[in-house]
Order: sequence, then C-alpha cells, then structure tokens
Amino acid sequence: MATPENKLAFDGGWQYSPAPESTDHVKIKKTYELFIGGEFVAPVQGKYFDTINPATEEKLSKVALASAADVDKAVKAARKAFVGWSRLKPAERGKYIFRIARILQERSREFAVIESLDGGKPIRESRDVDVPLAAAHFFYYAGWADKLEYAFPGRAVKPLGVAGQIIPWNFPLLMAAWKIAPALACGNTVVLKPAETTPLTALKLAEVIADAGLPPGVVNIVTGAGETGAAIVNHPGFDKIAFTGSTDVGRIIQKALAGSNKKYTLELGGKAANIIFADAAIDEAVEGIVNGIFFNQGHVCCAGSRLLVQEPVADAVIRKLRDRMETLIVGDPLDKNTDIGAINSKQQLETIKSYLAIGQEEGSEMFQSSCAVPKRGYWCRPTIFTGVSQSNRVVQEEIFGPVLAIQTFRTFDEALIKANNTPYGLSGGVWTDKGSKIFKMTQSIRAGVVWANTFNKFDPTSPFGGNKESGVGREGGMHGLDAYLKLGG
Ligand code: NAI
Ligand code: MG
Repeated sequence: MATPENKLAFDGGWQYSPAPESTDHVKIKKTYELFIGGEFVAPVQGKYFDTINPATEEKLSKVALASAADVDKAVKAARKAFVGWSRLKPAERGKYIFRIARILQERSREFAVIESLDGGKPIRESRDVDVPLAAAHFFYYAGWADKLEYAFPGRAVKPLGVAGQIIPWNFPLLMAAWKIAPALACGNTVVLKPAETTPLTALKLAEVIADAGLPPGVVNIVTGAGETGAAIVNHPGFDKIAFTGSTDVGRIIQKALAGSNKKYTLELGGKAANIIFADAAIDEAVEGIVNGIFFNQGHVCCAGSRLLVQEPVADAVIRKLRDRMETLIVGDPLDKNTDIGAINSKQQLETIKSYLAIGQEEGSEMFQSSCAVPKRGYWCRPTIFTGVSQSNRVVQEEIFGPVLAIQTFRTFDEALIKANNTPYGLSGGVWTDKGSKIFKMTQSIRAGVVWANTFNKFDPTSPFGGNKESGVGREGGMHGLDAYLKLGG
C-alpha cells in the first residue's frame, strides 16, 4: 500500500500495466548455486532446498544449502578481496556501487516480479517501494564512498574488514541493499545470507553485482536457513555481524558474540503504537492505520500493530476502519489491484493463526473482513482486536501479520504510558493537528523512529533502528556509515 507520496519519491519509472503483472522475460533458473569469489559454485556437501511461491505453494527453484565449509570459503574469498577493495580509490568504489544502483533500476520490473513471486508481497509494493528504495540505498551510499572524512570531520576512517550479514524474508532485496551498500561504501567486503523462504532476489542481485564488474569476492551470497546463519555468526573470520530478524535469534547472536572482537548491529522485532488524537484528520489517520498494519501483510518490524485511539473519536475511527478493511483485496500478489498478498510461509501463517486464537481466548473481540481468499496458498484476512488490555499477549508480542490490537485512551500521558509499555522500542506514530503534541510525543516515545501524521515512510538518508528488545545500532543515513567503520582519533 504505497502512498501517493511514496510513488512520487521512488517511482521506478515504468508504466502501470494491466493486472495481473506478466512474468514474461522474468528468468528464474531451475537451480541456484552459491555466489562465492565472483562465481556461482555448487555447495560442498551437494545439498539443496526448495523455495516456493507462497501464493500457489508451487516450487519456484532449487537453491544451494551452504554448510560451515561453504561459509568458510566465502569468508576466505571476502578476506582476499578486502586487500584490494579497501585500498581502491574511494571514488572508484563509489562508481561500482552506482553501477549496481543503475542496473537494479534497469531491471526493476524483473526484480519486482520475482520479489512478489518468492515472498508473496503485492506487486504494487515491490514495484513502488522495495525495488526503487533498494536502488536508492545503493545511490545514496555510492555518494558517501569518497566523502567519508566529511561525515566524520577530524577523525581517521578505516573499514572494519569482512562483514557477515543475515537478513529476513519480509523485505528481501531491500534488506540486502541496506546491508551491502554502506558496507561496500566504507571499504568492507561482505558475506550475505538471505532468508530461506526468499533467497531469489539476493541471488539475482549477485548477477547484478557480477554484471557491474565488482572484483571477485567483494560480495558473496550464501543461501541456507538458521544453521547457515549460525555458521556465519560463529566463524572467527568476520569483523562485523549485521542481523535483521526475530528478537529470539538476535538474543542467540548477542550471546554468541559476547567477548569477541566482532562489532555488531541487531535490528529486531517491534510492537509500535500508532496514536490517534481526537483532533487528528480522521480519514487520513484511518489510511495511516491501514498502511501501518496491512502494508506487506503486516510482516514489518516497524508496523503500527497497536492502535491507541482517543476516546471521543474511538467509535468513529473503528467504524471507518472496519468499512475500509472491507474494501481491501486479499489475493494474487501479481495483480496490481491486490492490497494484501500471501503470508510469507506456512510456518508464519501458523504463528499468526495461533495469535488469532490467543486473542480470542484472552477475551478480546475479533473482527475480520469478509473478502474472498484463494483456495491454495497462505492467506490471512485483515483482522482487528478490540477490548484488549495492556497485558494481553496480542498487545505485548510481535505477531508479524495483518492483525491490529486496538486500545483507547483519555489523556496524553495515558497514551504515552501505554505506547511505551511493551518490551520493544522500534517505531511509533502520532496523528494530531497540534504541532506541540507532535513534538512532545515524538520526544517521549521510546522508539528509534516516530512518524507524525504519516506511517511507514522510508528514506536512505534517515537512520533506522531500535531501543530495548528491538535491537542495537542504526542503519541508514550517516549513522549507517558508523556501523561499518573504525574511527580513529
Ligand atoms: P528468524 O529470526 O529465524 O530469521 C531471520 C534470519 O535469521 C533468517 O535469514 C534465518 O535463516 C536466520 N537465522 C535463523 N536462526 C539463526 C541462528 N541461530 N543464527 C543465525 N541466523 C539465524 O525469523 P523467523 O523464524 O523467520 O520469524 C519468526 C518471527 O520473527 C516472526 O514471526 C517475526 O515476529 C520475527 N521477525 C522479525 C523480523 C524483523 O524484521 N524484525 C524479520 C523476520 C522475522
Ligand atoms: Mg519463497
């Protein structure tokens, strides 16, 4: 559900096509190997796994399963490449990264279609948000490559070395861009592992990186599940680990890295409050609620998964929200009219369903829209819970689906206390006509990102990251450079 503003800012530049988007000229290979040292190579143990289309449950491709031995090969390739890459004139590094951005733009349709096929997200989102934003990240960090000393005046800047990067399945290409672009701009080399349900766009990005002529080993892509991720975390050859994913795995990684010299950033879960004051523009706020929780099926760490609405307007907001939910189309991700695509995996659908049961057992009232959903594939209708209390699990825990918990409040302070009362602190939203309330609330919510009268807006110049159990470190903007540099006195 890209907003019109998103479309203007990040338009990938191709025309609206009749629904559904065609898969012509979109090449998905039968088998994908590992991308190590600039070449596609078979995994040492010869094992593979399938990636499927969650909207049809059909197999898309067979993908190499990397073992610790493959990770070791990738680290060695990255270490070897680091010597030349880190000594390259920074402006030359920048040119390579610009080239990645441009090729990504040229192939944007193909990337958008594959992102929607492999992960289930609506084509309108992959086309208008994911792919153009991924290119924007490469453009942005390409520009920093030869200006690092201006980012940190008076300090000596040096790359860290080899970075191990583990990314999730909700924004597969975009998260690859968030990780790879700043690392390369700062002169590091990388080994990146995409998530097991959505490996294809990262492997396509490997093709782009090869086409851009990057020296072999500067970027290595290894595919696999949690074991492959753990092999990266536990390999002594990395100087930095960057992880985006669940708080549970984040905790495991933090323990594994304790006492090591590896620098790390962890971008974990969230349970953001979207706060609607009675003086807000209500129809706009309802759009913001819809965007906040139903964008990307609610598979968004910074999703506005809790709604806090001020009492005088609560009934009106909930009524308008229910009406709006009835207009949302759940179905074929390749159809440009689709609002909510497929749930990313069977496992995630089961997680979401278990929370639907928990919410009802806790005594909350559940409302789901009545739209039709396809017979095959993994689907969840947009859902809201009302009558919830602060201690309910549907209020405290990340569901990562199109499920919104709704609470009401009377005063500013009550809203703030409720907003801050979860273990997370990643994002938040505030809707009001009063600038003073915006300033007070954005400064008081304990979250890395707070939006005012909008939600889910992303830009490469803006730092992103959480407090409390939402993680450590920042990605994006100048802060994102710091995470990949050794800064001298
Ligand atoms: P996950 O945290 O297991 O997966 C994220 C990435 O970590 C994947 O690439 C996975 O292969 C890798 N991984 C798994 N175990 C690992 C380990 N021990 N060491 C290193 N890497 C490992 O997330 P999962 O199980 O797919 O989703 C479970 C829940 O996590 C979701 O319901 C959601 O609440 C949350 N989540 C949050 C994300 C975010 O962006 N903050 C992204 C994905 C999931
Ligand atoms: Mg898949």
